[in-house]
Amino acid sequence: MSKTLIKKPIHTLLADSEKHGLKRTLGKMSLILLGIGAIIGAGLFVRTAAASAEAAGPAVTLSFIVAAIGCAFAGLCYAEFASMFPIAGSAYTYAYTTMGELVAWIIGWALIMEYALGAATVSIAWSEYLNNLLGGVIPYEWCHSPFESSAAGVSGIMNAPALVILLALTLLLIRGTQESAIVNGIIVFIKVGIVLAFIAIGFNYINSDNYTPYIIGENVAGHEDFFKHGWGGILRGAAIVFFAFIGFDAVSTAAQEAKNPQKDMPWGILGSLVICTILYVLFAHVLTGVANWQEFKVAGKEASVAYAIQNHMPGYEWLGTLVTIAILAGFSSVILVMLMGQSRVFFSMSHDGLIPPVFSKLHNKYKTPYKSNWILFLFVGAFAGFVPGSIAGDLTSFGTLLAFVLVCAGILVLRKSNPDLKRPFKTPLVPLIPILGIAVCSFMIISLDHTTQLVAVCWMIVGLFIYFGYGLSKSKLQQEHRKSKSLDQV
Ligand code: ALA
Repeated sequence: MSKTLIKKPIHTLLADSEKHGLKRTLGKMSLILLGIGAIIGAGLFVRTAAASAEAAGPAVTLSFIVAAIGCAFAGLCYAEFASMFPIAGSAYTYAYTTMGELVAWIIGWALIMEYALGAATVSIAWSEYLNNLLGGVIPYEWCHSPFESSAAGVSGIMNAPALVILLALTLLLIRGTQESAIVNGIIVFIKVGIVLAFIAIGFNYINSDNYTPYIIGENVAGHEDFFKHGWGGILRGAAIVFFAFIGFDAVSTAAQEAKNPQKDMPWGILGSLVICTILYVLFAHVLTGVANWQEFKVAGKEASVAYAIQNHMPGYEWLGTLVTIAILAGFSSVILVMLMGQSRVFFSMSHDGLIPPVFSKLHNKYKTPYKSNWILFLFVGAFAGFVPGSIAGDLTSFGTLLAFVLVCAGILVLRKSNPDLKRPFKTPLVPLIPILGIAVCSFMIISLDHTTQLVAVCWMIVGLFIYFGYGLSKSKLQQEHRKSKSLDQV
């Protein structure tokens, strides 16, 4: 067998899940809130209007349903794995035991795109919104990267607010998982409350004419392309709003800190996904009912929800300000859970010897991987402070989708190789669900733009150099394998 195909034995994996040092503090409710914390953010507040204006029209509500179905296939597969192997590394660990070390490395490396770049992207957006809320008081050069310049010719120096929010959340994560979960719970309460308020109040301002025609016809100017009208437009809309669902998988990275992972992980993953889907569908329905989708082509843009309120819901201007606060709160919890997820994936990779031991060093008192949190702050901060936000957004989707494809494939492999393993939660209709998950997520990867695909491939190549230059020789599993082989020869 090739060295790179070496798999982590299931008994080692289960033994590892018990001796790790992380504290088990998260119950079912905390896990669901963690999921909602990571899910509701820019995707809902910004991409709903964009998907409606560019591709789906009022039928963006259907786009949300299509994207949710795609995520549900992957979510069901994650739930089976997470209930079976309550380990911090999520998709990385599942791949290690089903498809071997090299695939595990690839997925671990791709997850950096999802979690670390995801956190950087959202912190840049956080900075933009904060400046909007403060009426633009932060000077241009201190809230933009050196690669950007204003219409007046001012060059950016550093995105300081993005670094501040990253620092604050890093300190919170180092302080403790339970403390972070409490803050996350408060933020979720605020943002869900404001989403519900918008839905409830906006319902009375729906103009049913805005839903006619519900699906864009190809006779609408600028919508002749297949992916800009009809069902093609709804599919393209689904790829755009997919970003809004990213995050439910982050729940699985907290498996080693769950009090009762076998039972509670499926709740955390699927519960948060179901709750957010319901909120998203209602939100999209109300937003496109209050304002006409054609208005979003020119007006509102990032602040589309505030635009709809100010122009179509007289007397509720205060709700527009609250929506901005909900967005800031939403962004904060997304960054928090992404940073947490990334440090837990690093924790597992380091524990296995594929990256240096510093990434799994726990704080004596707080029992959190504090050194990893600091390194992550420097890495994510370098992107957030000095790189334009537009670069990282679609890479986040790429990393997530690749992880989804491999997790679905892993379920097929494990059902064949270990059919009798105890599965507290079973994905229904195997092999249909994992196959559909692979198909839908692969289709979305293909529909991403070429620049994103090219950058992602370069990123993966850098990862392979690191694996062959470092991981392969330092891997604990490889070292044990070499030891047992040399003993056999004695
Ligand atoms: N789902 C997260 C968001 O929409 C990434 O911001």
